[in-house]
Amino acid sequence: MPAQSMEDLVALCKRRGFVFQASEIYGGIQGVYDYGPLGVELKNNLKNAWWRSMVYERDDVEGLDSAILTNPRVLHYSGHEETFADPLVDCRQCKSRWRADHLDDGACPRCGSSDITEPRPFNLMFKTNLGPVEDDSSFAYLRPETAQSVFTNFKNVLDSTSARLPFGIAQIGKAFRNEITPRNFIFRVREFEQMELEFFVEPGTDEDWHERWVEDRLDWWRQQGINGNNLKLLHVPEDELAHYSKATVDVMYQFPHGLEELEGIANRTDFDLGSHTKNQRDLDIDATVLANDESNARLAVQDQADRRWSVPYVIEPSAGVDRGVLAVLNEAYRVDRLANGTERTLLSLPAHLAPIKAAVIPLKRNHQGLVDRARGIKTELMRLGLGRIVFENTGNIGKGYRRHDEVGTPLCITVDFETLEDESVTVRDRDTMAQERVATTSLANYLRERIA
Ligand code: GAP
Repeated sequence: MPAQSMEDLVALCKRRGFVFQASEIYGGIQGVYDYGPLGVELKNNLKNAWWRSMVYERDDVEGLDSAILTNPRVLHYSGHEETFADPLVDCRQCKSRWRADHLDDGACPRCGSSDITEPRPFNLMFKTNLGPVEDDSSFAYLRPETAQSVFTNFKNVLDSTSARLPFGIAQIGKAFRNEITPRNFIFRVREFEQMELEFFVEPGTDEDWHERWVEDRLDWWRQQGINGNNLKLLHVPEDELAHYSKATVDVMYQFPHGLEELEGIANRTDFDLGSHTKNQRDLDIDATVLANDESNARLAVQDQADRRWSVPYVIEPSAGVDRGVLAVLNEAYRVDRLANGTERTLLSLPAHLAPIKAAVIPLKRNHQGLVDRARGIKTELMRLGLGRIVFENTGNIGKGYRRHDEVGTPLCITVDFETLEDESVTVRDRDTMAQERVATTSLANYLRERIA
């Protein structure tokens, strides 16, 4: 069963080194978090699972890793300068600022006053300066989505690979938004990561592809250990669609604070490629938007038969890494009541996401024979390339099991005195707590079966 409250998750994340408040020793920085020793492993595992399913397991997707600093022209022509804004209101009573849709029934969430200003648009993009001169000619934006650099690299990827429609470009990376009210832990933050695919298709085939991607993405989240009952699809109402979208389906997840967006799957039409394409009407390009006289690119494809140029449509599954981590942790969190009346907290993570795959623990701390054998087993298992295997010389097996239950380690391997005689070890399962004796010669296969 998922965690009962956000507090449970926040406490576990801090206690066990998944997520820390950024700049904590100076009082923190609002809406910004750091990932600790186990958080970075979990996050990398989630990103790797996405990359594997998007790039390695398909033959129609290429990868990209582009810059965060973005030329303002990109975000001008993408429409973000004009429209990427949330409605901001002020409380006249306590002078606090809120996103208009984050008020409590029209009242200030801090002081309860209903004396609130009219909403006005607040652009969410962060600006910074390039070089030593700080003026309007030298600024750049921190990208608010990874997608735009996929569009600006469309021709580079097309020209440097054998990609032909339909095909996609996948990217994982940081995005920045000056959220008016960041909240709910890592759910709504100002610096976050996205896993985005821009999948380019022939106009006219876009609606079919959109449906296929919605199904694919639901399946993928289930494979990350999310119970299908906690996932819902939301067809975004027309008046709430982003400026580039013809239709968007959100994958909603039952977070501890409520049902909220985990991923959005948008039909961006030819809006972005068309917007970034040089305005050359004489080239007879079919596109909805062609109003750019600063770009030098033609982000279009040519039909081999009739030689006409057309701008592909884009289907975009866009998932938040941080929201993914929160969802996966929430699903995996369990508190079991044991037969002896005590409780144990465990993270029942799918093995491929677990930050540590196995812990090798010598029965006695600092016993040279046990320690050497345990270290040797750790080294042999690391060679399998399954992920992080730790050697733990704490000497308290019970405590070690509890600690590893709480961080989601699927297997603990205990090296005891029998090991030194018959080369067998005790392997304990996180979820069932069952223990079995396994020959060290069979350990590699045992782990491959359980973890890979
Ligand atoms: N390129 C499309 C795009 O950026 P979006 O719905 O604004 O669409 C996509 O964002 C995903 O990024 C969201 O579904 C969410 O998972 C994540 N995301 C957006 N804003 C976020 C924030 N402030 N904090 C954490 N994740 C965020």
